[in-house]
Amino acid sequence: MIETIQWSHEGVVMIDQTRLPGEERYVVCRNYLEVAEAIRTMVIRGAPAIGVAAAMGVAIGVAQADSANLDAQFEEICAELASTRPTAVNLFWGIERMKRLYCSIRHLPGEEIRERLIAEARLVREEDIEINRAIGRHGARLIPDGRTVLTHCNAGALATAGYGTALGVIRAAVEAGKHVDVFADETRPFLQGARLTVWELQRDGIPATLITDNMAGHFLHSGRIGCVIVGADRIAANGDVANKIGTYGVAVLAKENDVPFYVAAPVSTLDLSLPDGTHIPIEERAAVEVTHVHGVRMAPEGAAVRNPAFDVTPNRYVTAIVTERGVARAPYTESLRELASA
Ligand code: MRU
Repeated sequence: MIETIQWSHEGVVMIDQTRLPGEERYVVCRNYLEVAEAIRTMVIRGAPAIGVAAAMGVAIGVAQADSANLDAQFEEICAELASTRPTAVNLFWGIERMKRLYCSIRHLPGEEIRERLIAEARLVREEDIEINRAIGRHGARLIPDGRTVLTHCNAGALATAGYGTALGVIRAAVEAGKHVDVFADETRPFLQGARLTVWELQRDGIPATLITDNMAGHFLHSGRIGCVIVGADRIAANGDVANKIGTYGVAVLAKENDVPFYVAAPVSTLDLSLPDGTHIPIEERAAVEVTHVHGVRMAPEGAAVRNPAFDVTPNRYVTAIVTERGVARAPYTESLRELASA
């Protein structure tokens, strides 16, 4: 299995996703500021992987902090990590989980606090892999045998601690003996589909075909696609789903062509404090990601650019949401609340 992120005695080790597929290079983040920078620059990306990185960032930050005034330093570490990317709620979930533990053990000797936080961060990673396998088990039965599955962005092992959410469901379907091939949207502008999803699927021997984003409608209309499955960065209480920019368009095209549209995500991606998707903060990234491809300028100097990294798919386009606790269907306000409290 691909090692997305690991704790080591040298620091937090991550596969550098900005260099894939050309180069398989691991970087070591030796302090919490380097972890924050890795999240910001998308060396590590994907909502669950960001959550694990945040937990490890807190752990390494506290491990290196002075014992004097630890509370203030703890807050500083958490604030820095929380400022990296606004949309994936797993980032804040990871930080909150570490905060809760810290508050319950802050009276202990410094060395013990450090050890407990490191152990917790490692546990967050291990649990994420188990959660993804459970998502896969629940979702595999939704995948039609002998058909093509369309996915957008990368919701695979690289976007998690391992196995993946949407790609985890596809992996589980293949492990269960289903014959599945995947169409991967390239996912402009950061090309997670072309660079990461196709790379991952090739390594697993799952047949993958790369298409550009604007080809999705053509193939959904052609009858070739049996279902769509994507990941999520944040899901509001009513089932509106924030995911990589372009997901909304795919969902509308899927409904228009009677193709089921599934979302696979852990319960930690639910944000039931938000009534609907209009409240989800959407990250806007640098213009250079749009104007340039691999450092080569594609647009004239001075072009006005927008680069929202995510969009929100209204719940009416979502056939089902697959979590580690089961599959939610409309009305999502009830089904998601039930899963969250299960
Ligand atoms: O900007 P990214 O690459 O972090 O966006 C990733 C996505 O949109 C994924 O689909 C989502 O985080 C789910 S990953 C299991």
